[in-house]
Amino acid sequence: MQKKIFSAMQPTGIIHLGNYFGAMNNWLSLQKEYAGIFSIVDLHALTIPQKPEELRTNIRNLAKLYLAAGLDPQKNIIFRQSQVHEHAELAWILTCITPISELERMTQYKDKAKQHKENINAGLFTYPCLMAADILLYDTNIVPVGEDQKQHVELARTIANKFNNLYGETFVVPEAMINKETARLRGLDNPEKKMSKSAPSEYNFISLMNKPDLIRKKIQKAVTDSGTEIKFSPERPAISNLLMIYHLVSGNSIKEIEGEFENKGYGDFKKELAERIIEFLTPLQERFEAIDDNELDQVLENGKQRAETLAKKKLKEVKDKIGL
Ligand code: TYM
Repeated sequence: MQKKIFSAMQPTGIIHLGNYFGAMNNWLSLQKEYAGIFSIVDLHALTIPQKPEELRTNIRNLAKLYLAAGLDPQKNIIFRQSQVHEHAELAWILTCITPISELERMTQYKDKAKQHKENINAGLFTYPCLMAADILLYDTNIVPVGEDQKQHVELARTIANKFNNLYGETFVVPEAMINKETARLRGLDNPEKKMSKSAPSEYNFISLMNKPDLIRKKIQKAVTDSGTEIKFSPERPAISNLLMIYHLVSGNSIKEIEGEFENKGYGDFKKELAERIIEFLTPLQERFEAIDDNELDQVLENGKQRAETLAKKKLKEVKDKIGL
């Protein structure tokens, strides 16, 4: 049987180059080899306050983006998490075997709790149990994600092993797949931290939907290191991050890019980088705009049905084992 990959993104309105190269781009290459299941995790999005109309739009836009990026809806299952009730139900069951101490270790929880001091809801804390349910419902072998999700996938492994030990072999124990090169793109305004949609300033990231003028502005304002050379080096995280982005959007090797800008300064480099990003994003944005609403509805309905069939079977097995 073909091995399975499962991955997902939150419909929070902004999908940036970090999300794209850290995760989505890997989904695109893996879809050839694996049976892919890709979710729009709208229940996870509720851990941060959402305006209903915006959330509705963001869910659809993220689904459109999956298609515009090149996920094949015939081959893969593309669906909304909230439309397959088994996710929430399994999440509860898994929550009941997850030690609080494991959840307290999660760095993303600690960071978000700091950021949203006024709204530290219980969902933010139990979030990894829902993520474990997403993964374990489908007998997932591989979970392609960026570096920041590694700890959550490890917890899903811990939970799967614990359940299997308590009730007998039930869950496949999944593995995270992380592309070393793109595991953690950094913020344009702060290369010490990851590129993040919840960063205080939008100058932290390039959204896949940003238009040319804004991209030019953002790249121009991007922080640089001391020194003037366009060279990749661990001691120079800002220019290295920009070089990595240049490499990813253009397909040119880092060496080639360094050669091209050997006797030039940051100004020239940044100008060219912005144009390369625009060239990369324009066709994706055009495909996004061309997706028909009815076609999208069909994809999501079809995905829901296919996901539901698998999820129902797994949840029944789980409920039988635990005595429900
Ligand atoms: P989310 O929506 O925050 O991010 C989606 C994906 O983008 C990756 N990513 C990055 N990669 C490289 N550099 C960055 N700066 C960067 N920022 C984000 C993330 O690692 C992720 O792969 N909890 C998940 C969604 C989720 C999920 C799942 C993922 C829910 N259930 C099951 C996999 C399997 C999240 O919030 O991702």
